[in-house]
Amino acid sequence: MIDFKKLADKYQTPLYVYDFDSMSKQYSALKEAFRGRKSMLAYAVKANSNLSVVKHFAKLGAGADCVSIGEVRRAFMAGIPKYRIIFSGVGKRDDEIREAIERDILYINVESEAELARVEIIAKELGVCARISIRVNPNIDPKTHPYISTGLHDNKFGVDIDTAKRLYIRSNNSENLDPVGIHFHIGSQLTELDPIREAAEIVADMVRSLSAAVGIELKFFDVGGGLGVCYENEETIDPYEYAQAILSTLTGMDITVICEPGRYLSANAGYFLTKVLYEKRNGDKRFVVVDGAMNDLLRPSLYSAYHRVDALGKGGELSRADVVGPVCESGDFLAKDCELPKMEHNDLLVIHSAGAYGFGMGSNYNTRGRSAEVAVEEGSDRLIRRRETFDDIIALEKEYLG
Ligand code: LLP
Repeated sequence: MIDFKKLADKYQTPLYVYDFDSMSKQYSALKEAFRGRKSMLAYAVKANSNLSVVKHFAKLGAGADCVSIGEVRRAFMAGIPKYRIIFSGVGKRDDEIREAIERDILYINVESEAELARVEIIAKELGVCARISIRVNPNIDPKTHPYISTGLHDNKFGVDIDTAKRLYIRSNNSENLDPVGIHFHIGSQLTELDPIREAAEIVADMVRSLSAAVGIELKFFDVGGGLGVCYENEETIDPYEYAQAILSTLTGMDITVICEPGRYLSANAGYFLTKVLYEKRNGDKRFVVVDGAMNDLLRPSLYSAYHRVDALGKGGELSRADVVGPVCESGDFLAKDCELPKMEHNDLLVIHSAGAYGFGMGSNYNTRGRSAEVAVEEGSDRLIRRRETFDDIIALEKEYLG
């Protein structure tokens, strides 16, 4: 049990707390599900990119799925070997592509014909052959929130099957491109297995036809991330069934499975601690105003996402309240219609499932410094990012004041 009260006293609030032991457990459960098959879990750094978190996964043997050169640099700094780093994303700049090639990472996930052309030109300039994989958009509805659905033709991601075939043939004929993998990612917070299986089948068939028709033998079958977690009462996919659904599409093929989990590894290992400032009522509506806000944890505002809220050590009669922050937006809330006892100044609220897409989506809106982050591991706690100060926030502006 984590002593949230102690941590809030020691590090102040708002505060992110990550249970590293829980992250290890999630990693092992998923890795174990793919046993008996060559596989790699490439942690989706975007989910929680704190260097100590990435280093924790590095020590467990994870690779890294990165969506900017900044994330690639984080992965290197955290000790992920270059042969386990993947660079994805729909809009890579030339300098990012160049650096990824120079750093000799496992492969670049290419998301369009125009991008493939850029990678080829840059690889030629560098006099090397760049390892690539093509992100296929299998046009499958993942049945998740539209903002985090990515595998439909309506979404900006990847290329359709026919284009992908053409791009593989083009890459295979190029001196500067080495097609080593295939990639798809149909969405995030997936709670149904059928869309994943269907997408894997489509992409596995494509791998077979590339081999049979054009002699391209791909080494990596990258299924993206997306495994959902329980925030409220969602039924989630069992990791073993998830692995089986994917592996069943690959019978008879000698290919390494790569999976890019983010949320599954870190969401439920994270907590956001915030203190009550005031209670107030506007007519019949009850608000609990806290010191954390949408700039710390954006998911409730952006996706109407539910995060469980516990009033630590409080009892008594419950009534509904919105938990809101100090930011000047009506959309600044951490929970709506939450059953809470009467709260007092400095009472502590623990917001659950905040380990993925929490801190990383934070901002300095309203000139609010971002929270500190703390790791809890084997019973001890340590700071892994200090709280941002006013000086940190203005550091890049003040010299231009004149
Ligand atoms: N691989 C690719 C190519 C991705 O685009 C993503 C997530 C992942 C892996 C990791 O997905 P995960 O296993 O975490 O579901 N901010 C949103 C989630 C955005 C996900 C974007 N891509 C949220 O808070 O729900």
